[in-house]
Amino acid sequence: MRLDASGKVSLDHIYTAPDPRTYFQALRPLGYRVPQLAKPWFEKTVKEYREAERVAEPRVLDIGCSYGVNAALLKHDLTMDELYDRYDGSGPGSRAALLERDRDLTRSRRPAHPLRFTGLDASAEALAYAHEAGFLDDTVNADLEADDPTPAQRDRLAGTDLVISTGCIGYVTERTLTRVVRAQDGRLPWMAHFVLRMFPFGPVEDALDGLGYRTVRIDEVFRQRRFAGPEERRGVLAGLAAADVDASGLEEDGWLYAQLYLSRPRHR
Ligand SMILES: C[S@@+](CC[C@H](N)C(=O)[O-])C[C@H]1O[C@@H](n2cnc3c(N)ncnc32)[C@H](O)[C@@H]1O
Repeated sequence: MRLDASGKVSLDHIYTAPDPRTYFQALRPLGYRVPQLAKPWFEKTVKEYREAERVAEPRVLDIGCSYGVNAALLKHDLTMDELYDRYDGSGPGSRAALLERDRDLTRSRRPAHPLRFTGLDASAEALAYAHEAGFLDDTVNADLEADDPTPAQRDRLAGTDLVISTGCIGYVTERTLTRVVRAQDGRLPWMAHFVLRMFPFGPVEDALDGLGYRTVRIDEVFRQRRFAGPEERRGVLAGLAAADVDASGLEEDGWLYAQLYLSRPRHR
C-alpha cells in the first residue's frame, strides 16, 4: 500500500479508468459515503441560492467531480448505494454499453428543479465518461493547482453560481479556488466544501476572505470512509496529531471524517 504525503493511501489509479467501475469497486469496501451525506447540504444550499439570487437554473461547478458523482446524486436523485450497485461489474460489460444504460437514466430521470453541472477534474477519462453519460453538462479538464485556466477554460468557469466539492480539498487548495473565482469577472459564487479534518482549511479560508468571502464551519462531522488498513490509520493519526487535531472518539475508531465549510460573499 502506497501512502501519499498526507499519510492517506494513494488512490490515483482509480481516477483515470475509462469507466466508473474501478472507482466504485475500489471505494465500496472502504464505505466511501461522503457524497451521500453531502447531498442534503448541497440541496439546501442550492435552494437558498435559488431563492436569494432568483436564479431559475443555477450553474454548479463540482471541483474534483470524478465520474460526475455529485451530479448523479443531485441532478438525477441517485444514491451512493445505487451507484455502487450500478457499477459493481454485474451489469453491461463494455464502456459503450454502460454509457448507453446511463444515457437512458439521465434522459429519463430529470431533476425536479433545473440545475446545470460543470465538472472540473484533472482526469480526462472521468470527465469524458460523465459528460457522455449526461451527468455533466460541461467539463473543464485542468489542474488549476499548476496552471492558470486557458481562455477557453475561463469561459467555461465563468458564470458559476455555486462551487461544491467532496473528497477533493487537499488535492486542491486555495490556488484552484482563487483561479475559479478570478474567472468570474467580479461575481462571487457561493461555495460548499466537504474537507477531511486532516487538511487545515485555514489557508483556504484566508484566501477566500481576501476575495470577499465569509466562511462558516458547520458544527457537525461527516464520515468519509474507513481506513484502507493499519498503515494508513497510523499515517493519518500521525498527521492529525501533528496538526493538533484531537482524533479521540473519531478517526481513532477507524473512519476518516470530513467537515463542511460554507463560504458566501460578505457583502451582497
Ligand atoms: C477522492 S476523488 C473524489 C471524487 C468525487 N468528488 C467523490 O466524492 O466521489 C478526488 C478527485 O479529485 C481529482 N483531482 C485530484 N487532483 C486534482 C487537481 N489538482 N485538480 C482537479 N482535480 C483533481 C481526482 O482526479 C479525483 O477525481
